[in-house]
Amino acid sequence: MKKLIIKPVKKISGTIIVPADKSISHRAVMFGSIAEGTTQIKNFLNAEDCMRTVDAFRQMGIEIEVGRGTARRAPTVLIHGKGLNGLKKPAKSIYCGNSGTTMRLLSGILAGQNFKARLTGDKSLSGRPMARITEPLRAMGAVVEGDKPPLAIKGNRLNTINYNSPVASAQVKSCVLLAGLYADGVTSVSEPSLSRDHTERMLRLFGVNVKSEGLRVSVKGGQKLKAIDLTVPADISSAAFFIVAALIVKNSSLRIKSVGVNPTRTGILDILLSMGADIKIKNKTKSPEPMADIIINSSNLKAVTIKLGVIPRAIDEFPVIMVAATQAKGTTKILGAKELRVKETDRIKSMSEGLKRMGVDIKVAGDDIFITGPTKLKAASLSSLGDHRTAMAFAVAGLVAEGKTSILDTECILTSFPSFGKILSKISRY
Ligand code: S3P
Repeated sequence: MKKLIIKPVKKISGTIIVPADKSISHRAVMFGSIAEGTTQIKNFLNAEDCMRTVDAFRQMGIEIEVGRGTARRAPTVLIHGKGLNGLKKPAKSIYCGNSGTTMRLLSGILAGQNFKARLTGDKSLSGRPMARITEPLRAMGAVVEGDKPPLAIKGNRLNTINYNSPVASAQVKSCVLLAGLYADGVTSVSEPSLSRDHTERMLRLFGVNVKSEGLRVSVKGGQKLKAIDLTVPADISSAAFFIVAALIVKNSSLRIKSVGVNPTRTGILDILLSMGADIKIKNKTKSPEPMADIIINSSNLKAVTIKLGVIPRAIDEFPVIMVAATQAKGTTKILGAKELRVKETDRIKSMSEGLKRMGVDIKVAGDDIFITGPTKLKAASLSSLGDHRTAMAFAVAGLVAEGKTSILDTECILTSFPSFGKILSKISRY
């Protein structure tokens, strides 16, 4: 899957199911491992990032059975949890690959263990900031070496913290809350705006009392997790590529089934609706993680201004939102998107470079992005720079470009969405 060639399509149509939510799949493995009893996860995301988390806990003595799955059905995973203090020292470094979620959440759990472990990552992860988690963990009493990967974490008896996170980040919030499970007393985290709350919801399912009051979440240490059965909804971050594809390719109509629509993740829908998108939500189910079918019809989009507050609720969708903006009338402004600079690539840079090559009028000023459209895109040769979401966003742009777009360096798509190419072919009409 090194090079992806995308030809323009006449329309997008059909009914699809996209793979399971990555954030929820990671958490289910982690929490199942420190729970008591056997946790069953149905519809697990069998992609590289989540398998890094599985391997990490296997290295620490947790037996995890990943079922076979089929082309149509994702595997069921059984995790034979050993409780809060059942992990054992890994014999060698734990390799987190490309996965920031593995490294940052795992660090919170490791902070409370009675051993030292070393965490490494690939080239992209090794350049990503970790001070955002190492600082609160040190303040709680963990001994942490490094502020960029590799990290070495020597667990300790932890003290509680009331942490005011300077960034709205679910990875930071989750890391501190997980360390808080090992601290004596109540640990709390507050964030400048609400990031995804899968940790809070799932810890409650595992029987932990987690208190959420506005932007502050707290947990009392020492609470035991009890194994559960859960089904992971489809990932709205994966659905996002096809939502935008169906909006910008004329005469399209698409239904995406059983997508996770947790309100802390639906910023993409709010943004696209404000751009005039014809998107309908049907068959919505309730908690613990709401799911719905999303029905999309091609639309004439108009430019909007996207401000800081909504950014965490759509954080992973900006590459494809930028593609939508190229087809919208007027200048779309994305303001204060600093966090995009520290994702798998600097997404302001990777996306603006690629879109410029396709003829887009895109300007960047500091962390603000201005895209003026609509533009008839020109096919180009683009590189993902090793970022799965940049690669898939370029593929969506290629659907409405003149000529054949080639995208290099697309193995990274395996980290989150191995069946991307297959589903795209299924709904493309030439
Ligand atoms: C994630 C949180 C987000 C997101 C990432 C997954 C999670 O990161 O970008 O893909 O699973 O908690 P931040 O918390 O750093 O914003």
